[in-house]
Amino acid sequence: MTQVKVKLDRAMETSLVTLYGKALDARMTPSILDDQMAVRALSRIDYDFSHMKAMNERVAPNAAARSKHFDDWTREFLAAHESATVVHLACGLDTRVWRIDPGPSVAWFDVDFPDVIEVRRKIFPERAGYTMIASSVTDPGWFDRIPVDRPMFLVAEGLTMYLSPADGQTLFRRIVDRFGHGTFAFDTHNRLGVRLVNIMLKRAFGTAMLNWAVNSRAYIDRIDPRLHCVDAVSALLAPSAANLQLSTRIFTRLIRPFPAIRDLGLYFRYTF
Ligand SMILES: C[S@@+](CC[C@H](N)C(=O)[O-])C[C@H]1O[C@@H](n2cnc3c(N)ncnc32)[C@H](O)[C@@H]1O
Repeated sequence: MTQVKVKLDRAMETSLVTLYGKALDARMTPSILDDQMAVRALSRIDYDFSHMKAMNERVAPNAAARSKHFDDWTREFLAAHESATVVHLACGLDTRVWRIDPGPSVAWFDVDFPDVIEVRRKIFPERAGYTMIASSVTDPGWFDRIPVDRPMFLVAEGLTMYLSPADGQTLFRRIVDRFGHGTFAFDTHNRLGVRLVNIMLKRAFGTAMLNWAVNSRAYIDRIDPRLHCVDAVSALLAPSAANLQLSTRIFTRLIRPFPAIRDLGLYFRYTF
């Protein structure tokens, strides 16, 4: 197999971090996500991963657990709606559509910046019912590509924190305006989470990238009254965190009473 030289910058480069983490998790025993396709994709990429030291065997299971969480919510939706449209925002180099492997009556759309989609097209195969859209999520043009004839599930893992608060709120309102009804699953970082991840990003890539901190569910509730919260879960307390390493689980038990640390990452599911 030929190697694909990859040069991504700004937020786009972080798609390599999560891919690397999932490949690392897949090589561990036990593995949380067992994403063997991520291992194969990584082996095709010509990129200097040596400055990703922060994504090591201690941290990788957290990246895998987050993806498992959103996979489980996606599967749950598709179990209830055999015929559906899935919109995967900021897909990066994630292999969710293959992990879920939806049936023929599901139309699946992956959206990310053009440079990321170009890499996806080189390293991943095509599949029936699957479309990639090369666009910023803040450009309203992508909405026109999505049919609204079936129940709609949107998933945005690792996206909100990269947006400005104004762009994030506009995106949320546009989703409700354009799609009318559906389920939207996404994660956020709180103020401390944004600060800590920015320190890591600065170390790895020389620049901070996260902008939008969300400290609580109440903040999201205020964005649009048509958004109804179904789940708001701390990433550390989510079911997908049950298989994290013992040291992480002990840490979780200790910080449980302290929201600023407990809610470094939150997983949300809203209907509209
Ligand atoms: C940390 S990666 C997460 C990728 C993937 N969701 C995963 O979990 O592996 C962040 C992703 O957000 C994408 N992203 C950030 N801002 C975006 C925007 N305005 N429009 C589209 N994608 C964006 C980046 O290109 C990158 O792929």
